[in-house]
Amino acid sequence: MRARRALLYTPGDDLHKIQKAVTLDADCICMDIEDGVALNRKPQARQVILQALAELDFGRSERLVRLNALGSGLEADDLNALFGGQTAIRPDGIVVPKVGSADQVRWISAQLAVAEARFGWQPGALALIIQVETAAGLVNLREICSADPRLQAVIFGAEDLVNDIGATRSAAGWEVFYARGAVVAHAAAYGLQAIDMVYVNFRDPEGLSAEALQGAQLGFTGKQVIHPSQVAPVQQAFTPSPEAAAHAQRVIDAFETHQAQGRGAFELDGKMVDAPVVKAAQRVLERAQVVKGV
Ligand code: COA
Ligand code: MG
Repeated sequence: MRARRALLYTPGDDLHKIQKAVTLDADCICMDIEDGVALNRKPQARQVILQALAELDFGRSERLVRLNALGSGLEADDLNALFGGQTAIRPDGIVVPKVGSADQVRWISAQLAVAEARFGWQPGALALIIQVETAAGLVNLREICSADPRLQAVIFGAEDLVNDIGATRSAAGWEVFYARGAVVAHAAAYGLQAIDMVYVNFRDPEGLSAEALQGAQLGFTGKQVIHPSQVAPVQQAFTPSPEAAAHAQRVIDAFETHQAQGRGAFELDGKMVDAPVVKAAQRVLERAQVVKGV
């Protein structure tokens, strides 16, 4: 699966911002029709996104479109704008916010399959990414994450979740720690990527880097961002450093030597190394490898 370290939102009705977004070397650009766009600008957003898909070179960035929530009454027009015309330009994937049930995942996947058949795109060509950011989404994570093979990643939305469960955002973030851990565990169980919450205080680079590193430590594979200045630091936080990769290689080399000598656990730099430590080192090298490919 492609690396999705930074997923940059850009309001779909703002061509200037989309033009800027394509210059930033972001792993993913998510052109939004949902909450980043005013209600009376939704038609404009649909038009501008079509224009951007047709005219702009996104480079290596994944071209994503975030629809309005299923059941909002706006999603049919979103889908119709993208896939209802005589011709269409294929985005790389679709992001669906506020997913609460496995049925919604299967419904949207079926809609995407219809579009693929209609335009002769390869079945499964349209990636599906969903957002879990409601109490229902959280308690149905298991069914949601295993609902459909098209699903590639789960995004955790903190701001909507705290509203839905009656919590309040705080600097420490205890109100979302359970949800963050639950998203990571369910995504891992079903082979999906997990993309962490937005750091809304976009003029605070230290806070951003700290929260991005914390997300990576929790097991997230990427993070949502909302401003150009957040792209590079977040992509760095989700990339193993050269030192980390070199250390991981040493662990694996030492493991192989000791394994050949019949020893499962051994000491390296004053620390015990056994199977889970070796697995962690392999994961670091795998992540470094995926990122090299981008
Ligand atoms: N994508 C692309 N370009 C962006 C951007 C984004 N998300 N956010 C800001 N920019 C551009 C601005 O247009 C500006 O470009 P310019 O210098 O050519 O004029 C430049 O980056 C610097 O922006 P800045 O002036 O610091 O911020 P702003 O006041 O223009 O915008 C926000 C602040 C928060 C409104 C803006 O970052 C934004 O719209 N973010 C995305 C919001 C969103 O999509 N929310 C829904 C998902 S959570
Ligand atoms: Mg949201």
